Amino acid sequence: MSYLTFHLVFLAPPLLLLGLALAHLGARRRNELLGRRWWWAVPAVAAIAFVYTTPWDNYLVWREVWWYGPDRVVGTIGYVPVEEYLFFLLQPFLTGLWTYQVLARRRGAADHGMREVPGLRVEPPPSRPGVVRVIGALPWLALALVGVWLLSFEAGVYMGLILAWAAPVVGAMWLYLGPSLWRMVHVVGLSVAVPTLYLWLADIVAMAQGIWEISEQYTLGPRPFGLPVEEAAFFLITNVLIVFGTLLFLVPGMHALDPSPTPAVSSTPAQVGSTHQRTGFMNNWKSVALLGAFIVVAVATGTFLYMQNQDAAEAREGPALEQPPIAPAGEIPEAELVHEGPRQAIPLDHDAPIPMKVYASPTCGCCGLWVDHIREYGFEVEEEHRNDMGEVKRALGVDFQISSCHTAVVNGYVFEGHVPGEDLRRFLAEAPEVRGLTVPGMPVGSPGMEVPSGEVDEYQVLTFTADGELAVFAEHGPVPPAGG
Ligand code: CU
Ligand code: CU
Repeated sequence: MSYLTFHLVFLAPPLLLLGLALAHLGARRRNELLGRRWWWAVPAVAAIAFVYTTPWDNYLVWREVWWYGPDRVVGTIGYVPVEEYLFFLLQPFLTGLWTYQVLARRRGAADHGMREVPGLRVEPPPSRPGVVRVIGALPWLALALVGVWLLSFEAGVYMGLILAWAAPVVGAMWLYLGPSLWRMVHVVGLSVAVPTLYLWLADIVAMAQGIWEISEQYTLGPRPFGLPVEEAAFFLITNVLIVFGTLLFLVPGMHALDPSPTPAVSSTPAQVGSTHQRTGFMNNWKSVALLGAFIVVAVATGTFLYMQNQDAAEAREGPALEQPPIAPAGEIPEAELVHEGPRQAIPLDHDAPIPMKVYASPTCGCCGLWVDHIREYGFEVEEEHRNDMGEVKRALGVDFQISSCHTAVVNGYVFEGHVPGEDLRRFLAEAPEVRGLTVPGMPVGSPGMEVPSGEVDEYQVLTFTADGELAVFAEHGPVPPAGG
């Protein structure tokens, strides 16, 4: 399944239904139940989500916290697949339009000809809204700080990035709109819960299909039902962001949160009026002051914790200079050994260890898995971590067009990417006069790129020369996913 198919299967149908349901409400009920801002609230949330998520997600892919099957996507902008950007827009529409449907069925909606969902009542206004704002924002501030702390060790990176990125915004929104959100806690709960469960399921399917994959190095470990806790947290907290954001825009334009006046309420017009809360933050200097204080405290504490962690890390690992050196660009001694002339074959029954040098980026997860694979074929591997893999490939004569992640050198040959061990040994036994072998890109199911479903894409192992001559040396796949 490609990422685009995923959108068609999992997002298009519910979006279509929610769009139809919104149309079915009719103009009058939309204005009465959602307020006059309904037509721009969700698009505005989607636009903000898009802008806020883009740099964050690019960083995640760059850092290899998650990656995608290169053949599952149409293309990338920056580091991120086009379909992922689309998702930044589709998820807010999915959750936001769902929130509209929940709102339109809250207690009191019967007066507008809607069927009410039991339990979706609106709580009375809190007696001390200021206290509700502060108390409700504090847990989110705490989560943001936990996030910063998690960033200080590898397994905590993904969860840390989620919490530090999203929790401050949730807290800030609570500061603006906490009392109204508190009154609608049942609406918020249902609005968040349903899309979250749905996206968890979709995520499990997508990962089983190998559309994307989450690094084990940067996650805490638990994966109930195959869903890393980080992914679960991501969909939960982003849906909270979307629901809060949607309500943030809607509520100031809504007539009243209360059901139509019952005799008891209509006798106290002042209270009905008070439901017209002045939640627009420009109207409320206290919110602005609180928000300012919130940001200052969050940034100051975050910076403090980060520096503490850096100090602690240095104390643990010694000064940064003693870390394994990464050779500067240009120094690739193996380049001297590579040639295309005749050389001695290494027969298949040769059983002394064969020395192999592997160049790979220090952050590459699949490279390490390939090294594990190749060691089983009698190679004694020396790994060198480089941040300038482009430079390494240039020096070893691997053209960009046929490149992959890691580059290995054996017996003066170059092996690019996820070449299967069996092909590599057969190649060394035949000893052809070429530069080496390559598996361009990173085919799903090649050694080091295995997926849980056992699926293998169709891919070729090619010989290549410095002049760019390619020839097929071996072919693999396709193997369909188990059970699919
Ligand atoms: Cu790879
Ligand atoms: Cu690799």
